[in-house]
Amino acid sequence: MYNDNPTLDNLEKKIDESRQGDVFFQEQMLGKESDKKFYIESYGCQMNFSDSEIVASILSGIGYQATKNMEESDLILINTCSIREKAEQTVRRRLRDFNKIKENKPGTLVGVLGCMAERLKAKFLEQEKLVDLVVGPDAYRDLPQLVATAVGGEKGINVILSREETYAAISPLRLGSNGVSAFISIMRGCDNMCSFCVVPFTRGRERSRNAYSIIAEATELFEKGYREITLLGQNVDSYKWSNPETEATVNFAQLLEMVAKIHPDLRIRFSTSHPKDITDEVLHTMAAYENICKYIHLPVQSGNSRVLKLMNRTYDREWYKERVEAIYRIIPDCAISSDFIAGFCTETEEEHQDSLSMISFANYSMSYMFFYSERPGTLAARKLEDDIPLAVKKRRLQEIIKLQTQVSLAHNKADIGKTFKVLIEGNSKKSDEQFKGRNTYNKMIIFPKVTGFKPGDYIHVKVTDATSATLLGIVEQ
Ligand code: SAH
Ligand code: SF4
Ligand code: F3S
Repeated sequence: MYNDNPTLDNLEKKIDESRQGDVFFQEQMLGKESDKKFYIESYGCQMNFSDSEIVASILSGIGYQATKNMEESDLILINTCSIREKAEQTVRRRLRDFNKIKENKPGTLVGVLGCMAERLKAKFLEQEKLVDLVVGPDAYRDLPQLVATAVGGEKGINVILSREETYAAISPLRLGSNGVSAFISIMRGCDNMCSFCVVPFTRGRERSRNAYSIIAEATELFEKGYREITLLGQNVDSYKWSNPETEATVNFAQLLEMVAKIHPDLRIRFSTSHPKDITDEVLHTMAAYENICKYIHLPVQSGNSRVLKLMNRTYDREWYKERVEAIYRIIPDCAISSDFIAGFCTETEEEHQDSLSMISFANYSMSYMFFYSERPGTLAARKLEDDIPLAVKKRRLQEIIKLQTQVSLAHNKADIGKTFKVLIEGNSKKSDEQFKGRNTYNKMIIFPKVTGFKPGDYIHVKVTDATSATLLGIVEQ
């Protein structure tokens, strides 16, 4: 892309290998148009939010400043999710809002990024005529060219998926950050073919990012005052990076350890763990480092082995239960959370009961719960009939939510009287007189402020009350 530039070699030498290189290039290549503004809205998983920060970094390299006010922006971007039909409906609704702005302010560009852009490709431009840009998750480096095309009045589209792209050298521009917690993508794509899931189609093949670029990013964040990082991937347990120079490989447990060693005051979280891949080595590493948070998101999807097979999750109920037992054996106080899909193809009432009983067995601190939404192109859409009536799906989902809420409440009530080390994230939503922060178990605690403490500090808080979602406490002086 940049190879015809005669100064490239010289430039390349000047650039710090692991940081900022790409953005620096783009400034050189395209010149700054510093009066331009972009607005970005993100939907879907944390990876999408993390990608928006990469997009922001790339755009700032061509002189576009981020704005929170879409009315004043020259470029409106929406980073989209395709995981369920509802997610796509939300995007279409937002596009109608954006188009109204476009009518009032001709020349405003509207771009669709992310998974829905990838899923629908050029079809998007047929369906949504006012969209100027369609850019898939692996094509963000091409944004400077695509934006230039759109400014010139043509449609900009790039939805090419890559086997290598990890945006390793791009330093994300932290959007809407609290300055305390940040996400770091450690891998992209997914090679599991869960039959319900659109992600392998929208995000492409799994690839792991250079371990040293991850360490560099985490270290830089710590130096800037951040105290918590979440390592992101669709299946972090299959992280595997080979150093091309030494051919040594780094697995997820080793990466966790490398990040944990940056500083004892830097907390490490990660998401998502896949039940088939989470190893005892990872659990022992978690147990060995106080700053690796004792919390695992381990989505079960269904508690029934036949349904799990149809879902192509490649584990069964017994395997999952064994992994839960291993977690509680190696890290007795660990909190575990899950995802559930209610009413997957052919699920019977008895099989649904197996999902309910898994909530009690695993004693999840919380779960994300959905009813099944068929996604075009997935294995399930091609091979299985979406035969559970919507009303039944919704009723089963309600039952799952009801039980999980009870289990979460009991889990939280058991914390009353305990004192936790909490990382202060900022003011609570309800009051400037209160702080909010999380304990190692990823539980949010709200407590009255005390003098001398600020966001980014650790503080000990004694829990005095609990709801199913939050703990309330007072500072233990
Ligand atoms: N990589 C993660 C999941 C990412 S998608 C994992 O393997 O667990 C986040 C969650 O969305 C999934 O765990 C699943 O519960 C839900 N989900 C995915 N596809 C869905 C569909 N077609 N209908 C309903 N929920 C779905
Ligand atoms: Fe989707 Fe399965 Fe990959 Fe998770 S592991 S992203 S559910 S295909
Ligand atoms: Fe959605 Fe794509 Fe994430 S489909 S859940 S934004 S990987």
